[in-house]
Amino acid sequence: MYWNENEMKTDIINSGIPKDISIKDHFGRTFNYLRFAVNEECNLRCIYCMPEEGVPFQEKARLLGKNEICRIIKIMSDLGISKIRFTGGEPLLRKDLLDLIKYTYQKTDISSIHLTTNGVLLPRNINQLVEAGLDGINISLDTLNKEKFKKITRREELEKVLEGLDLALSSGIKSIKVNIVAMRDFNDDEIIDFVELTRDNDITVRFIELMPFDSHQIWKTGKFYKADEIVNDLKSHYNILKPVKGSSTEYYIYKIKEYIGRVAVIPSYSRNLCSACNRIRITADGNLLNCLYSQSETNIRDAMRTGMQDSGIEKLIIGAMQKKLKNGWIAQGQGNDLRESMTQIGG
Ligand code: GTP
Ligand code: 5AD
Ligand code: SF4
Repeated sequence: MYWNENEMKTDIINSGIPKDISIKDHFGRTFNYLRFAVNEECNLRCIYCMPEEGVPFQEKARLLGKNEICRIIKIMSDLGISKIRFTGGEPLLRKDLLDLIKYTYQKTDISSIHLTTNGVLLPRNINQLVEAGLDGINISLDTLNKEKFKKITRREELEKVLEGLDLALSSGIKSIKVNIVAMRDFNDDEIIDFVELTRDNDITVRFIELMPFDSHQIWKTGKFYKADEIVNDLKSHYNILKPVKGSSTEYYIYKIKEYIGRVAVIPSYSRNLCSACNRIRITADGNLLNCLYSQSETNIRDAMRTGMQDSGIEKLIIGAMQKKLKNGWIAQGQGNDLRESMTQIGG
């Protein structure tokens, strides 16, 4: 079953017929979208994500190697996964990312390959990424203002990110999205500037609710800007917001008449989207998470390193997803400590 018409269409276009999906839960949800975090490190230090000194990154030996990642991707493809997103950390810091994309494109039935990146390394990588088979790119960019960019990321890389966005636009890649973590008294005054990017560009600009995954707990400091409020603010500026179809996180998605692109609001904290959840997450150290807010994990790395066969790993994946709880609120309620940084989950 597909939750989203676009995803179904992509699948039909790429493979003729929709694939059978073997990964299901007790609430009637099926899982066809794998989010794979390929590293934890990042070349920015966004204040809502990590402190300047970083978080305790794990030693390399604990992270999955290229062959281990490829093996998991192949097993997931055999289980019916049709869309993959590489995340991190910053995935472009991983030297073998192109090999991972090429492997997915050439050796599996996964028909839609995506990347979420902060964009800093895009200028030097975009052409090779597209050649390797990448279908879509989501760029995290919280402000268009140089001073604010430095404040939020603690680095001076805005120009590189904008150059990356421009090059992506002329690269021929199928899908480009801009992810903005929306924050009160920080970038709430830039909402319209971001929306205006959709006037002439075929991109989706997406405002994301701040989530509690950071050691400084910035979200408790009054910066939280709720999805419903963002939507109301958008509607008060634009009276022609036509609802259109989007991906499963794009719970609110609109098109402004005569604009080429789309504008979405993602209720990542409010969690209105859980009944349509279609995601499996693998962290850089090989843990499978059946929810973004899940407190428990199933370790695929150790299973592989202790010699488990593919059939055993398939069972492990199916079993872990069957245990998925009804929504992210219940998942969060199973423990009391939230993760220190989004880099430990991959978004
Ligand atoms: P598309 O495939 O283009 O829809 O992208 P995506 O939204 O799945 O991926 P992306 O990496 O761009 O995620 C952007 C943000 O959406 C993340 O940082 C989260 O804040 C939020 N998000 C993504 N997946 C989930 C999810 O399963 N649950 C919740 N609550 N939020 C999510
Ligand atoms: N809340 C919301 N989004 C976050 N991201 C990282 N940390 C948080 C947080 N605490 C976003 C990034 C990127 C995506 C992968 O996750 O900005 O768009
Ligand atoms: Fe899925 Fe959990 Fe996200 Fe809800 S919070 S959409 S259940 S991953």
